[in-house]
Order: sequence, then C-alpha cells, then structure tokens
Amino acid sequence: MKQTSYKCDKCCDTGWILIKQENRQPLAVACECRKIEKLKSEWKYSGINVEQSKLTFASFVVWNKASQRMKDTAGAYCTDFDEIRDKRRNSILLCGQVGSGKTHSSIAIALNFLKQHIKVVYMPYRDVITKIKQNMIDEEYYTRTISKYQLCEVLLIDDLFKGKINETDVNIMFEIINYRYLNFLPIIVSTEFSIDRLLAFDEGVASRVYEMSKDYVVEIEKDIRNNYRLK
Ligand SMILES: Nc1ncnc2c1ncn2[C@@H]1O[C@H](COP(=O)(O)OP(=O)(O)OP(=O)(O)O)[C@@H](O)[C@H]1O
Ligand SMILES: [Mg+2]
Ligand SMILES: [Zn+2]
Repeated sequence: MKQTSYKCDKCCDTGWILIKQENRQPLAVACECRKIEKLKSEWKYSGINVEQSKLTFASFVVWNKASQRMKDTAGAYCTDFDEIRDKRRNSILLCGQVGSGKTHSSIAIALNFLKQHIKVVYMPYRDVITKIKQNMIDEEYYTRTISKYQLCEVLLIDDLFKGKINETDVNIMFEIINYRYLNFLPIIVSTEFSIDRLLAFDEGVASRVYEMSKDYVVEIEKDIRNNYRLK
C-alpha cells in the first residue's frame, strides 16, 4: 500500500508540534519547517528560488585550477560545517576575479545548508546597504534590519563592498560582522576584492572576516581567463 509522505515528518505538514505535558493540555509549538518556509520566501524575494535554483554543486563545472580550488574548498566547508560551526574559524571567504563562480559557489553552499534546515540568510550587499542608508532615519527599521543579519544562524554576504564605499558603509558592516565575530556565528562571504584590498578598505572588518575564514579562503587571481562568463 502506498504510504503518505510528508514534506516535514516532524509535524506532518501541520506546522505545529504538540508537546505532551503532565496533567495538562499538550503545548503546541511552531515547527522548525515553518521558519525554513519563511526563510525560503525571503530568498525568493531576493530572486533566488531555493527549490529550483541552478546555482548548485551539481551544475558547477571544474574547468580550470581556480574552479577546482573553489569547488574543493566549498565542498570541504559543507562537509566540515557540523564540526566547526561553533569554532573561531567557522566561515568561508571566496574572493577575487569577477565571474569566477564566487556567487555560484556561495549559493550552492547555502542551498546545501537549507536542505539540512540550517537557516542561511541571504544578504546581497549592495542592495541591502543602499536600502539601509535610505532608511537611516527610521530607527526601528535600522535596528530590525541590522539585527536580522547579526543574529541569523548563517549569513551569506554576497559581493561585499561592491560599489563606492564610504565610512557609513564600513560602520554598518562592522556592526554586523563584529557581532557575528564576537558570538562565533558563521559567515559566507563573496567579494571581487583581494584580501589586501579588503584590508585597505577597513582593517577592522577585513581582519575579522579573514580570521573567521582562515581555514576556507579561496582567492582567485585577477586574470580574465578565470572569468567563466567569457569562457
Ligand atoms: N565553474 C562554473 N561552472 C558552471 N557555471 C559557472 C562556473 N563559474 C561561474 N559560473 C557561472 O558563471 C556566471 C558568473 O558566476 P558568478 O556569478 O558566480 O561569478 P562571481 O565570481 O560571483 O562574479 P562577480 O564578481 O561578478 O560577482 C554565473 O552564471 C555562474 O553560474
Ligand atoms: Mg558574485
Ligand atoms: Zn514541520
């Protein structure tokens, strides 16, 4: 006989889990899967469909040395994550050459995590920073937005420091990254800048990112031949 299969076995897709209590009515608590669904809708809002995205490990082609390093490091990070997630070096930094697959790999990692119900929040740096600055006078919006990126389980910062940057941008990123640094919360960072350039922008932010990602850093040499878009 065909068995019914649920998307979530914990709550049988009801969204609620009943916890037995002695001499009392069972307590209903929201199931983890609802939080994941909410998160997926946030990803969709940023233009990434978690279920259908093509930015996966399966579609990542190893076509040169740089892509080999990227795939190996991203893969190792996923494999090791459970063990390292509470450690100082619990993050990954993919940096350098434009079009070399940094965003592709970062998202592949995030999708892999989301499948395991590890909650990754996507932060497209430039869009987010622009919006925060436009709403700077709205203190509540500011706090709410910053806290979302400070507190989430894993944060993916895509294209860090893209565009013209000034002191405000650096301060906002410091608030987010320093919080995560102090609380041992992992980040996945993609940026077209080299580590030296990042350090030159702001040593406070960059040295924290570097220390957190030390075991999983891929710096792709600036060479147009490493641009997959032009392959
Ligand atoms: N090794 C690869 N295998 C398959 N597709 C790839 C690979 N590398 C890059 N791509 C594809 O090429 C395009 C550019 O890659 P991606 O956006 O990840 O580059 P990036 O390093 O983040 O560039 P940028 O610095 O401009 O943000 C994407 O469509 C991506 O899916
Ligand atoms: Mg990118
Ligand atoms: Zn559930």
